[in-house]
Amino acid sequence: MKRTILLTGKTGQLGSELLRSLRRFGEVIAPDRNELDLRDPETIRLVMRDVKPQLVINAAAYTAVDAAETDEAGALAVNAEGPQVLALASKKVDALLVHFSTDYVFDGSKNIPYVESDSPNPLNAYGRTKLAGEEAIRNSGADHLIFRTSWVYATQGRNFLLTILRLATEREELKIVDDQTGAPTCARDLAESTVKVLARAIGRTQEPIAFSNFNGIYHATAAGQTTWYEFAKAILEEVAQAPQNLPWFTSATNGRPIIASRVLPTSTKAFSSPTHRPSYSVLANGRLMAGFGVALADWRTQLRGCFSSNGR
Ligand SMILES: NC(=O)c1ccc[n+]([C@@H]2O[C@H](COP(=O)([O-])OP(=O)(O)OC[C@H]3O[C@@H](n4cnc5c(N)ncnc54)[C@H](OP(=O)(O)O)[C@@H]3O)[C@@H](O)[C@H]2O)c1
Repeated sequence: MKRTILLTGKTGQLGSELLRSLRRFGEVIAPDRNELDLRDPETIRLVMRDVKPQLVINAAAYTAVDAAETDEAGALAVNAEGPQVLALASKKVDALLVHFSTDYVFDGSKNIPYVESDSPNPLNAYGRTKLAGEEAIRNSGADHLIFRTSWVYATQGRNFLLTILRLATEREELKIVDDQTGAPTCARDLAESTVKVLARAIGRTQEPIAFSNFNGIYHATAAGQTTWYEFAKAILEEVAQAPQNLPWFTSATNGRPIIASRVLPTSTKAFSSPTHRPSYSVLANGRLMAGFGVALADWRTQLRGCFSSNGR
C-alpha cells in the first residue's frame, strides 16, 4: 500500500521543494491555503479526516518576521494554534507530524552553536509564536519531528538571495549587516534532507509507524556559519562565475545586468528595523547526525548548488 502524505505550504520556499522530494516517498496530497487554512481549525480537521495520512508535513507558516511584530495574534494562529490542531488530528489517525521551526527561538547570547537542549528565549514575536508551536506539538501526544532551521532561501519566493540579486541590478554599492551570524540554508537541501531522515527512520515499514523513539526537536541547517554581509559577497562571487542564463536567475534580475561591484559591511543598528533579531543563531546539527546519519552540506556549497543546476 502506498504511503499517504499530507503536505501544507506547497507554495512556499520549502513546501514547493518538499512537494518534489516527497513524491518518491509516497502519494502527496498538498492542499493550498484555500483548502486548508491553518487559521481555521475546522478545515484542518476536515482535510485530515478525508485524507487520513500516515505522514503530515507542515511546511506552512507565518514567516513575515517584521509583520509579526504588529500582528502577533495572526502569527500565533498560523504558527502555533493551527499546528496544535494539526498535531491533535495527527494523533487521532496515528500519523507522524513533521514540522519546521526556527533559529529565532534563541536570543543569540551564545557564541558557540546552540544545541537542542539550550533554553529558548525569543527576541521577537515571530520567534515567540514559533516556540509556542513547538510546545503545542510536543504536548499534543502526536509522534513528531520538529526541524529547527535558519535563514532559508530558494530560487523562488521572497528571500535574501533574490533580494540581493535584485538590488545588485539597481545599485553599484550594497550595504549589508555584518553583526548577525547564522547559517543560510537552501530550501532544496533541507527538503532532500527531510526525505532522507524519513527514509532512514521509517524505511520500508508501513503504518502504523512505530516512531515514538525518534520524537523531538532536531536542528537542521546548512553546516558552517557566516554573516549576512559575507553571504551577500558570496552571492556576488557566484554570479561572477556562473552562467547567467539560468531561468531563475533571469527572473530574479528581470534580465537586467548586475551592476553592483562593492559590498560594504554595516550594523544592524544602522538599519533601525522594528524587529530584534539574534546576533548569533548558529545551530549545532549533531543530533540529526546521531539520530539519522544525515548532515546538510556547508552553506557555501549549498549556495553554489543554486548556480550550478539548470533545474533550479
Ligand atoms: N524563511 C526563513 O528564513 C525561515 C527561517 C527559519 C525557519 N523557517 C521555517 O521554515 C518553514 C518554511 O518556511 P518558508 O521560508 O518555506 O516559508 P514561506 O516561503 O513563507 O511559505 C509559507 C507557506 O505557508 C503558507 N501559509 C501561510 N499562511 C497560511 C495559512 N493560514 N494556512 C495555510 N497555509 C499558509 C503560504 O501559503 P501562501 O503562498 O498562500 O501564502 C506558503 O505556502 C516555516 O516553518 C518557517 O517558519 C523559515
